[in-house]
Amino acid sequence: MVTGTKEVTPEKFRDVLRHVPTGVTVVSALAPDGPVGLAVGSFVSVSLEPPLVGFFVAKTSTTWPRIEPLGRFCVNVLGEDGEAVSRAFAVSGGDKFAGLDWRHSPMGSPVLDGALAWFDCTAHQVSEAGDHVFVLADVHDLSVRPAGRPLVFCHGTYQRLVTRKA
Ligand SMILES: Cc1cc2nc3c(=O)[nH]c(=O)nc-3n(C[C@H](O)[C@H](O)[C@H](O)COP(=O)(O)O)c2cc1C
Repeated sequence: MVTGTKEVTPEKFRDVLRHVPTGVTVVSALAPDGPVGLAVGSFVSVSLEPPLVGFFVAKTSTTWPRIEPLGRFCVNVLGEDGEAVSRAFAVSGGDKFAGLDWRHSPMGSPVLDGALAWFDCTAHQVSEAGDHVFVLADVHDLSVRPAGRPLVFCHGTYQRLVTRKA
C-alpha cells in the first residue's frame, strides 16, 4: 500500500528517497596542495548537445569550496568494487587519496585508478538549490570500461546490479 502525509518532514523525505537507487561517483580536483574529492550520488546526465552533466553538493561540504575556485574537476564513476573508495570519500577531512593510485585527466584533474568511467569537466554554472548547490558542468572528455559494472547505492547501503536472464 502506498501511504502519504501532507507534511514533508526531513525524516519522511529521507525515508522515501532511500528507496531511489543512485550510482556512486567521486568528484575530484587537483588543488595547489594536492588532490581533493568527495563522494557524490546525485550525478546526472543533463544535455547531449552541448554535453552537460550535473550534480548536487551540500552547502556543508568542506571540499566543494576548494574545488569551485579551480573551475575544473573529474567525475569518477565507481565500479562495483569501489565501496571502500566511496567510504573514504564520504568523510570530511583527512587525506582521502592516501594509498590510492590516480593519474591526470587530459585537463589535469585526478582520474582514480579502477574508475568504471570518468568525465573531464569544467564548471558551467553553480546555482542555489535549497541546502545544496547544483553544479552544471561542461564535459570535455570521457571514457568507460565497457565490461565493468557500476556500484549502486540504495536502502542506505551498497548494492550490485543483477542482470535478469531474458
Ligand atoms: C553513496 C553516497 C552518495 C553521496 N552523495 C552526495 C551528493 O550527491 N552530494 C553531497 O553533497 N554529498 C553526498 N554524499 C556525502 C558526502 O560524500 C559527504 O558529506 C562527505 O563527507 C563530504 O565531504 P567534504 O566535507 O570533504 O566535502 C554522499 C555520500 C555517499 C556515501
